[in-house]
Amino acid sequence: MKLLVLVSGGDAPGINMFLAELNKKVKNVDAVEGGYRGLIDGNIKPLASFEPQKYKTQAGAVIKSSRCPEFKDDKNFNKALKNAKNYDCLIILGGNGSYKGAERLFDNGVRTIFIPTTIDNDVEGSEYSLGFHSAVKACCFTVENVMPSMEAFNRCCVFEVMGRNCDAIAQAVASAMQADYVIAKEEDENFAKIAKIIRQRQKDNHSSIIVLRENLVNISEFCMDLQEKSGVEVRYNIVGHIQRGFKPTSVDLKMAKKFADVALKAIKKTHNSYAIVMDDGRVNVHLI
Ligand code: ADP
Ligand code: F6P
Repeated sequence: MKLLVLVSGGDAPGINMFLAELNKKVKNVDAVEGGYRGLIDGNIKPLASFEPQKYKTQAGAVIKSSRCPEFKDDKNFNKALKNAKNYDCLIILGGNGSYKGAERLFDNGVRTIFIPTTIDNDVEGSEYSLGFHSAVKACCFTVENVMPSMEAFNRCCVFEVMGRNCDAIAQAVASAMQADYVIAKEEDENFAKIAKIIRQRQKDNHSSIIVLRENLVNISEFCMDLQEKSGVEVRYNIVGHIQRGFKPTSVDLKMAKKFADVALKAIKKTHNSYAIVMDDGRVNVHLI
């Protein structure tokens, strides 16, 4: 059986372990270099040539990823389709956008296996997407290493975390760090309430933590306003791409192996196309 694998969209910690597991368990798997862009261009090499074993415990994606809006154009899509059809099965690692691409390939006759890999944890139909745990850990690491300095001045610190339009990272970090306030959606932007909370924290001789989901406010303007309204010194920290580049946690390494094992079993047993999902705490297959 000829297998092809690609990574699309934002990389996520754990992807390299998935690729290493694939490389270990199956002989002669090919990999697309650079996601859907690479599939259009026919940029395909043996997976082993990317040496995934060497990088299995590191974040990133040894076979490279891409964001490729031009994949949606018929001319490009048909080129990609032609390259995919040289294989018995195409394994696609990515988030919601990449899943749409996987569905279109499937609709056009490519046997497809989709693996949810995005730090955002927003893939429809799956309780978990690979990389989320490591991203949350990266945020907590940042909060833990910034707050001692804030506490020395009883300042408030606002931490902006990723997630695109999904609040999963923000909520998980806020909960783990006992944040004083979380702004995860537009309605949470209640200045009077936030100012009251951080003023009280200062009165109690303490710093305060606010977790903010990205794409909601301009953080610098937000913090200046908050400082003015509350009278408390406010600083901010945009956690950024350490969330994607963070060393995968043991949870994500284990999940990567599990996703790979379930995917390989499904590939060997049947001829169907699947999304591999976490459902009620178990890794399972869903027909695409
Ligand atoms: P993610 O997969 O992490 O959600 P993106 O939303 O950036 O990341 O999507 C990754 C890629 O998936 C896009 O650059 C594009 O190539 C492809 N894609 C996104 N939406 C569609 C769609 N509706 N149809 C086909 N391909 C899509
Ligand atoms: O989808 C993962 C993610 O990290 C989002 O949380 C974020 O909004 C986006 O990708 C950033 O993408 P990039 O830095 O690749 O442009």
